[in-house]
Amino acid sequence: MNTRQTAALQLRRDIKGIDRKVPVLNRRRSRYVYLDNAASTPPLKPVLNQMDEFWNWYSGVHRGTGYKSLISSRIYDESHEIIARFVGADLERDTVVLVKNTTEAINKLSFRLQLQPQDIVAVTAMEHHSNELPWRARAQVRYIQVDKDGLLVPDHLEQLFRKYPSRIKLVAVCGASNVTGHINPVHRLARIAHSHGCPILVDGAQLIPHRRFDMKPHSHGDHIDFLAFSGHKVFAPFGAGVLIGPRSAFASGVPDYQGGGTVKLVTSNRIWWADPPDKDEAGVPNVGGAFGLAATLKYLNRLGMDQLGGYEEELTDYALEKLRATRGVKIYGERPRVGVISFNLSDLPHALVGAVMCFEAGIGLRTACFCAQRYVRHLLGLTENDVDPALYESNRLDKIPGMVRISLAPYNTREEIDILVKWLKILNENKYEFRRRYKFSPQFGGYWPVGLDENAYFNLAGVSL
Ligand SMILES: Cc1ncc(COP(=O)(O)O)c(C=O)c1O
Repeated sequence: MNTRQTAALQLRRDIKGIDRKVPVLNRRRSRYVYLDNAASTPPLKPVLNQMDEFWNWYSGVHRGTGYKSLISSRIYDESHEIIARFVGADLERDTVVLVKNTTEAINKLSFRLQLQPQDIVAVTAMEHHSNELPWRARAQVRYIQVDKDGLLVPDHLEQLFRKYPSRIKLVAVCGASNVTGHINPVHRLARIAHSHGCPILVDGAQLIPHRRFDMKPHSHGDHIDFLAFSGHKVFAPFGAGVLIGPRSAFASGVPDYQGGGTVKLVTSNRIWWADPPDKDEAGVPNVGGAFGLAATLKYLNRLGMDQLGGYEEELTDYALEKLRATRGVKIYGERPRVGVISFNLSDLPHALVGAVMCFEAGIGLRTACFCAQRYVRHLLGLTENDVDPALYESNRLDKIPGMVRISLAPYNTREEIDILVKWLKILNENKYEFRRRYKFSPQFGGYWPVGLDENAYFNLAGVSL
């Protein structure tokens, strides 16, 4: 076993619930195969154990004078530093703002940049809605093109700068796509942006969990100015996300949320705002989330992001090879990519593929458009004229164009890929039979096996409040 495999195996051993069996039709239980890590990753047992101890010392942060408050405050502050170091942020010049998730981070930045209506934000044509809609709401958006395989065309950014001199105030790009897994050349894009005096934001939601990342020093031309990512996609429990950027960008202007913790002094007619990041972390903060995220990042550093990323690359190659050799499978996108692979199977609705994988095979994956509808349409060769809003209004996932997505993490195995491929083959060879055995339910929002009692099925988990 090489060092990559050793790291990946250790990660697998530490995944909470990795041995959990789920109910499947015709058999009683099957080991859950989780291939939806781009949505959320499971937490880690060692981190949960560490947190179990932490809760004994938990108390209000930055507000109390008791010992537990002091400990909690210290841990909360330290978590910011650990997060900054994980991505090579500059602890002197940058600030780490703890938020809920990437969506909140990007919305916050869109507010804090004080954009004017005529300003332009250049985003790519492959963004998740969370890195598109906040910019559309506050400025004008121009899209950096992608080619027919969905790969970014970096030179187009240069053209946009020439076309709109001085108007582009931010370049906002994903580090990796949540549809095709494409890894964007973010440092190259940073160099282009900086040569025009423009900062860059990297939406790291799908990159940080998969690769070691370095924002690089401020003095470098390819430094990343702003970075956002979600703890729940990088094995951290208890919901903390991150927005990192220069302190100066947060020192001016007013915060989007105002209230306790955000101020130094309040008089009847003036407010003196607190220093970053406090100014942007309104209310009592999520110290559990901060602890969980920082402890998780330390854990990942111990195993080695390069080892884990290397293992995942090999696993992704294996999955691509197996899927390519499976009749009826059409894969979207090209390398370079993280372990996110979207495909379709023959003429089967993506939602039916998802249902069969869930109910028959015990496999968790995702289908449809993955909150990146414009990009998915592009990859499918559709235009906006092909869109029927009524289908979306009525949640007809059986008719809405889309894809099936698997997203790997370094704890997944070749055996799990083999199980997926085996079931794709079974489905493809028995299409008529499966179409008959499943019925689309708009109420449930997906296909449901004919005759399966919903309550009885969900009660099998034995989990309740
Ligand atoms: C590329 C990308 N950006 C942003 C988000 C939003 O992340 P969150 O839901 O954690 O805010 C996602 C979620 O899947 C994503 O894949």
